[in-house]
Amino acid sequence: MSTKENILALFEKNRGTYFSGEEIAERLSVSRTAVWKAVNRLRSEGYEIDAVQNKGYCLSVSTDILSAQGIRKYLKSVCASMELEVLPVAGSTNVLLKERAGAGAKDGYALLANSQTAGKGRLGRSFYSPGDTGVYMSLLLRPQGYSPDQAVRLTTMAAVAACEAIEEVSGRSAQIKWVNDVYMDNKKVSGILTEAAFSLEDNSLDYIVVGIGINAYPPKEGFPPELKQIATTVFEERQNDGKNRLAAAFLNCFMGYYAAGENMDYAKKYRARSLVIGKEIRVISPAGQREALALDVDEECRLAVRYQDGSRELLSSGEISIRFL
Ligand code: BTN
Repeated sequence: MSTKENILALFEKNRGTYFSGEEIAERLSVSRTAVWKAVNRLRSEGYEIDAVQNKGYCLSVSTDILSAQGIRKYLKSVCASMELEVLPVAGSTNVLLKERAGAGAKDGYALLANSQTAGKGRLGRSFYSPGDTGVYMSLLLRPQGYSPDQAVRLTTMAAVAACEAIEEVSGRSAQIKWVNDVYMDNKKVSGILTEAAFSLEDNSLDYIVVGIGINAYPPKEGFPPELKQIATTVFEERQNDGKNRLAAAFLNCFMGYYAAGENMDYAKKYRARSLVIGKEIRVISPAGQREALALDVDEECRLAVRYQDGSRELLSSGEISIRFL
């Protein structure tokens, strides 16, 4: 790690605490000039670092910048071996992580960005990812011996983890709109895009990338007109360290489920958070759109629906829309 990264790790673990330049230099075995330069670089990146004579430097508790050091201080032991990479900007963290996967990145590699210029959504859509207001994260998983069905379940696992993380940091409740959109107050707050790569040699699963975007704060200029009525944010106002707390809470929950594997009955949790059960919905498929009643979500997180002609179907993937009254 560079001097700047080491200083950030020290500051992040001890927000609100003053360290003299001399003490930092000694701890990191670098010169005081190197400390001073690194502090200035952190400041130019937006970190609020106070400097007081005879006391030293101190990172403000209100700083809210996504960083590997900032996230790591909240991670539980289940995430201890994870590698974290945080970029100020990425095209799409999913696309970039697939490149890292091709180059040999390991299970548990997480790539996050402060903004995305080409955020990818499901079904070829884009995902609005403005700077400084969201958590855009992709997670590389290389589970051994997973079937395609198990791989699909990682998406539903991510939806449950997103709800739990949001609730932990905001104290407000979150629900799942089948199949994997997360809603608060009937508006979308988070979306998940899972992509898998198969090895053609032995037709086995090579890796999975779980991509999640969470709207943390309202964008500075507000949501664009097409999202205004349908999108919302976890917080209404800036929080102390809000984005790092949100990212870490998601990783702690998700990696807990992932480590527990089949022993974790998260389907019950998924069902309990369903926004759709009992609602009139529209099932959207390549064949067209049909009005239906959402009956239930089963143990595989499939959606049972009854169409207006009385016929029933168990949906395992696809798209639905709900009309909120
Ligand atoms: C959707 O709602 O349709 C899914 C949105 C998924 C967005 C996330 S943001 C991080 C990761 N990188 C991407 O390009 N997409 C996912």
